[in-house]
Amino acid sequence: MKIEFKKGDILKHKTKVLIYGCIEGELDNTMKALDTALNGTIKNAFKDKSFTGKKNKLKVITTHGKLPFEYLILTGLGKTDEITSDTIRQGAGTGCRGALPLMAEEISIAMPDDVYSKCGAETAAQAIALGGYLSLYSFNIHKTKDKDEKIEIKIITLISDSKGLDINGITRGIDTALKIGDAVYFAKDMVSEPGNYATPSYLADKAKGISSKGSKIKCTILEKPEISKLKMGSFLGVARGSDEPPRFIILEYNGAGKNESPYVLIGKGITFDSGGISIKPSKGMEDMKYDMAGGAAVMGAIKAAAAISLPLNVVALIPATENMPDGKAAKPGDILKSMSGQTIEIISTDAEGRLILADALTYAERYKPKAVIDIATLTGACVIALGNFASGLLGNDKELIEDLKNAGEACGERVWELPLWDEYSDAIKSDIADMKNTGDGTAGTISGAAFLKKFSSNFKWAHIDIAGTAWKDKNGSYIPKGASGFGVRLLLQYLIDQTKNGKR
Ligand code: BES
Ligand code: ZN
Ligand code: ZN
Repeated sequence: MKIEFKKGDILKHKTKVLIYGCIEGELDNTMKALDTALNGTIKNAFKDKSFTGKKNKLKVITTHGKLPFEYLILTGLGKTDEITSDTIRQGAGTGCRGALPLMAEEISIAMPDDVYSKCGAETAAQAIALGGYLSLYSFNIHKTKDKDEKIEIKIITLISDSKGLDINGITRGIDTALKIGDAVYFAKDMVSEPGNYATPSYLADKAKGISSKGSKIKCTILEKPEISKLKMGSFLGVARGSDEPPRFIILEYNGAGKNESPYVLIGKGITFDSGGISIKPSKGMEDMKYDMAGGAAVMGAIKAAAAISLPLNVVALIPATENMPDGKAAKPGDILKSMSGQTIEIISTDAEGRLILADALTYAERYKPKAVIDIATLTGACVIALGNFASGLLGNDKELIEDLKNAGEACGERVWELPLWDEYSDAIKSDIADMKNTGDGTAGTISGAAFLKKFSSNFKWAHIDIAGTAWKDKNGSYIPKGASGFGVRLLLQYLIDQTKNGKR
């Protein structure tokens, strides 16, 4: 994807499709001029209320040679005082998705001056470019037919004739959007791949890929003998049931001084979750290919952090394995010894995410991290509690939690905090081991986090449950259905924020 900026008169701009952002109920000067050229089509739409600029609504108009573009797409931005970078991403995304059936290879997006002035040129341009770019994601590499009927949009031009625009800021904004967008695409591609392609070794290869070619990221892959040597009995207890060899993936990005302690991001990398011996019902089991979405998110986040040269040190850890039933698989009732030395009674082999994360959390201790954030499709209970619009957030540090909430609001990947009071740990007490891997059936998301907390006492820690947000069943304004890439932008935003406001 190429995204560029052009300063010039919107009404004279030659392009196949021009997308114009409309503030609800307002006809600005550009829209008035467009309306005159189109013999009152826009005013009529306002009059009969078929389009009034409401958020996420659009109108496609064929210009019949009256303007230098074949199609004009009006995309609603909502009311002026409600404009944020997320509503801009939504407006750009809705507009670009509206252009998909128009067989265009290049499209252009213009926004009213208010958009640039309200958010600042750099932020606005980043939001427009990122919303547009992300909205055009598709995954069809396994389709051998019906491919040619679609033309891919390859170039997006942002155009504005607004006076005094900070063009350098706009160029920076677009450049950042492309880097973030690439990282989100990278994560989505991995999550979209089915389990027979996206195996633990495949994830390891992808990790190696982002650390090659003069990259600032170092990649280390631990295989079974090394994992055993580290005594990761909890992780290996899950891996035992699969023929696919496990991998423990380590990515290290040094954007700051060698001695500065890093932020550690941990992502659940279950490349297929059958449930193991506590096997899942077959209906919907195919969804469990996305049980490695947390792993993909941390890989995407560190890739983006390196791409934008963040002045921080960041580590990403991905314990990757399948969860399968087999003669060698761990059974309910088995007791595993984790790397931390704590013992775990398995009640359900389907509560495997926490088992692999436990050892990754212990591994994180060696970095003396500033903070550790794990991200995982951990519990079905989180889907029940929060649905698809917010991820669950729990942790042991107020400031870290607040920072993640703020990052979520800013980037549009929202999180919602659940309590993690000591009382919730009672449910995972075991009679014969230090803990068991499931609770009493109530507050499932919190029980999962209460388990992880037992491995996180030596650092500031937060847990993000993305079971409900990693995959979308419906098209959104700028996140099409399928893998959402949730977490890449949230974690990156959190890291960016850490470089500001005297945080370091
Ligand atoms: N991977 C699942 C959680 C999940 C459910 C992710 C739906 C995405 C969508 C996880 O490993 C799991 O099976 N969790 C169990 C835990 C239970 C046995 C305590 C669950 O949520 O049922
Ligand atoms: Zn499971
Ligand atoms: Zn799982």
